[in-house]
Amino acid sequence: MIESILEKEIPTKEDLVSMLKAEGPEMDRLFKKSMAVKEQYVQNKVYFRGLIEFSNICRKDCLYCGIRKSNTKVHRYDIADEEILKAAQFAYENHFGSVVLQSGEQKSSVFTRRITRLLDGMDKLSGGKLRVTLSCGEQSRDTYRKWFEHGAARYLLRIETSNRDLYSKLHPNDSLHNFEERLKCLYDLKDLGYQTGSGVMIGLPFQSYESLAEDLLWMQAFDLDMIGMGPYLEHEDTPLYAFRNLLLPQQKRFELALKMVAALRILMKDVNIAAATALQAIHKLGREKAIKIGANVIMPNITPGEFRDDYHLYHNKPCTDENPEDCKSCLEMRVGLAGNHIAYDEWGDSIHYQKRVKS
Ligand code: 5AD
Ligand code: FES
Repeated sequence: MIESILEKEIPTKEDLVSMLKAEGPEMDRLFKKSMAVKEQYVQNKVYFRGLIEFSNICRKDCLYCGIRKSNTKVHRYDIADEEILKAAQFAYENHFGSVVLQSGEQKSSVFTRRITRLLDGMDKLSGGKLRVTLSCGEQSRDTYRKWFEHGAARYLLRIETSNRDLYSKLHPNDSLHNFEERLKCLYDLKDLGYQTGSGVMIGLPFQSYESLAEDLLWMQAFDLDMIGMGPYLEHEDTPLYAFRNLLLPQQKRFELALKMVAALRILMKDVNIAAATALQAIHKLGREKAIKIGANVIMPNITPGEFRDDYHLYHNKPCTDENPEDCKSCLEMRVGLAGNHIAYDEWGDSIHYQKRVKS
């Protein structure tokens, strides 16, 4: 019965729910279809984005997030600008083509200026050849504009869920955690000309299959260029941990996340879909599995410190660093096993975006 659904040009919400509920051979058929769509529309090509998580200082208190402001157990860090630029240099020299600067949410004129300086620095070190994505939370339109003018081409801001009720269950009910504000930021980003990325968490407490199908339709209606979504992982130092008895087992959440990726690839054929790091927390080869069935972006963590020493930075000696999950040669091999290859020295703007700006 899934065959007739997979043959449809435009899947309905009910069709998407069926895809998300597919099990066993039906799930295999879904994956076969999404693999074919991927090959046809974006080829079996994977783009690397070097991920620099430069600070975990956050002013927000999302109920699911380990680095929420109220979690006093977290050791807060903020990497020095020179170190951040060194990591960007590493990405550039290793032909990644693109980096993502991610942090907890900070909002101040000092922070705005700092990011602006970092953008200038990255532009300088690469002669404008490094594509920079920012993921620094909700900011004013003016701040977003300033960063765009200084070379940030893409922005990631997950909606977390497109369902207002669920959103309010996942966040404190105050003005800092406002669904409408999050939406406004996304509209601002798109309007200012950013390649706009968003996404959701999958397998949250209180989340239904219908709600996930609506998330997919929301992504389509918003006309996103990039999507990152991964399984929700319960964190013991957060309030949402109290609802862990409502969760699907991790393996099922993992499968559900893969089915979301597959359904999205079928729905939005030419967008960039990231293989979320959270997949890897459940399954060692989680990201590669997502690549196989529809994702086309991997964000290796190149955050200094938990990364490699200078020697390794420049000599790319295989299998010696502490972070084999994100070692370049290791990833090359695993992506190859998933039937894909890495596109080096390409910006990898989503085909969807390229078409959107042309039209
Ligand atoms: N499990 C999975 N993903 C999480 N994120 C935050 N906390 C969790 C969690 N406990 C995701 C959110 C956020 C992104 C940076 O990380 O979607 O937008
Ligand atoms: Fe680097 Fe395997 S750990 S190639």
